[in-house]
Amino acid sequence: MRARLLAFRASDTRFAPFRSDPAPNRMSDTPVEIRLHAVDLERLRAVAAAVARVLRAGDAIVLSGPLAAGKTAFVKMLAAALGCPEEVTSPTFTLAHFYHGSGLGLIHVDAYRLETAQEFDDLTLDDFLDANAIAVEWGEKVRDRLPPALEIAFAADGPETRRLTVRAADPAWRDRLRDIGVASQGLGPCP
Ligand SMILES: Nc1ncnc2c1ncn2[C@@H]1O[C@H](COP(=O)(O)OP(=O)(O)OP(=O)(O)O)[C@@H](O)[C@H]1O
Ligand SMILES: [Mg+2]
Repeated sequence: MRARLLAFRASDTRFAPFRSDPAPNRMSDTPVEIRLHAVDLERLRAVAAAVARVLRAGDAIVLSGPLAAGKTAFVKMLAAALGCPEEVTSPTFTLAHFYHGSGLGLIHVDAYRLETAQEFDDLTLDDFLDANAIAVEWGEKVRDRLPPALEIAFAADGPETRRLTVRAADPAWRDRLRDIGVASQGLGPCP
């Protein structure tokens, strides 16, 4: 089974920082957006493992998509890939949960119920980013409160599959996004 890698769109106008790079020749193969479809749970686990391999303290992951799109499912898989022994549960009511990986900690936030960005600021999660990465469901609501993020958008595909768009505009993610793309290409053929 192979997840089809739909596109590396280095020319996407939404990602101007890459287009204005002073060394465009070297940038020509730079993936700025990875689109995957037919992502079943097995493939989602592989994407989460690929993200876990490149994740560092201070990183943010913005997870977007409708209810039941798979955002929490992804965080469960990410936490497992980071070696977190605790069971991951949705922080919809508690807003933030902390997990301890074998090397890196993970803060899991659900911004769905936040009415203002100030409520996110009040959690003072910045104080913990020196030892943790942070993954935020409905993270688009607080994107401007986060470090430059890896963004993963979930959309419906088949009943048990999702379409994923993985992107990052900040150069800090450039090589790592490419690594995630390469790992995602190796997921196996599409059904
Ligand atoms: N390919 C898939 N990817 C992700 N989830 C899937 C997939 N196939 C089935 N599912 C199921 O869909 C459900 C997704 O629920 P999940 O809680 O992860 O959604 P969510 O995006 O976090 O929703 P919410 O916005 O309510 O928090 C889970 O029960 C999961 O097992
Ligand atoms: Mg959720």
